[in-house]
Amino acid sequence: MRVGVLTGGGDCPGLNAVIRGIVRKGMQEYGYDFVGFRDGWRGPLEGDTVRLDIPAVRGILPRGGTILGSSRTNPLKQENGIRRIRENLSKLEVDALIAIGGEDTLGVAARLADVYGVHVVGVPKTIDNDLSATDYTFGFDTAVNIATEAIDRLHTTAESHMRVLVVEVMGRHAGWIAIHSGLAGGANVILIPEQRFDVDQVCAWVTSRFKASYAPIVVVAEGAMPKDGDMVLKDGSLDSFGHVRLSGVGEWLAKEIERRTGKEARTTVLGHVQRGGTPSAFDRWLATRFGLHAIEAVRDGDFGTMVALRGTDIVRVPLSAATARLKTVDPKLYEEVGVFFG
Ligand code: F6P
Repeated sequence: MRVGVLTGGGDCPGLNAVIRGIVRKGMQEYGYDFVGFRDGWRGPLEGDTVRLDIPAVRGILPRGGTILGSSRTNPLKQENGIRRIRENLSKLEVDALIAIGGEDTLGVAARLADVYGVHVVGVPKTIDNDLSATDYTFGFDTAVNIATEAIDRLHTTAESHMRVLVVEVMGRHAGWIAIHSGLAGGANVILIPEQRFDVDQVCAWVTSRFKASYAPIVVVAEGAMPKDGDMVLKDGSLDSFGHVRLSGVGEWLAKEIERRTGKEARTTVLGHVQRGGTPSAFDRWLATRFGLHAIEAVRDGDFGTMVALRGTDIVRVPLSAATARLKTVDPKLYEEVGVFFG
């Protein structure tokens, strides 16, 4: 049996741990052969491969990024994309494919499996933790730890200058990183994409924090939107997902806070720092288990499925379920953490 492996979409700490788990178990226990495809779906589309065996995965467990490279290439949007993939898989004698990715990558995997009968197993990945089919995705815990450390550091500089510090974290559609890191870091305001925020309310929380002689920290997810100023944040262009691109909510909010409260404010945009570097212990654990279970699914011939975490168990769900619904922050949870605002 020869198995192809690819990583697609935005990179994420833990991708290498998944690859290592797949290859170690596949070669040592099942005697399989592997082919690494470069840069997500571009690899099978163009027949671009890389050697993938035990020496190739040695030492990669703590490494961020992906040894296979990644891209957002979508074969469904390319001329004869599916036909080219099928031809290359057959030329390379690849019997099964493991696709590690988020919404887009797994959407292609689901289509290949369900419509074209390609032998695909999926592994979910996103630092945003917004895939509903799994309790957690790897990369999320690392991102939360990085954001929490940044908030801890910003508290001391905010207090030295008695300034407002606005921290913009990732999360275009879901506020999981914001709510977890904001709570862990003791933020005074947390703003998420799921609930439009009222700038006057934010300013009232900021002011009350100053009254208690503390400098406030405001955590804002990149996709959070004000109630009354959303047009200000839309720059009109579309990103690679076809979503309206937002121009920095963090910068905009800091300026509004300064204008409305008269207090000095600064913004820190954490950006891709949240996706880089070594995965946390939890992410290594989860990613490795996903890898072990994905190759087990291949051995069982359970194609068209994706591995997922439910409680402490790794289960298999249909690939189509991976992209069916976005997991967003429950309003009850947001209300619960709201007790710390202001
Ligand atoms: O899906 C993960 C994510 O990090 C989002 O939070 C973010 O909006 C997006 O990817 C940015 O990705 P890129 O800069 O690679 O297009």
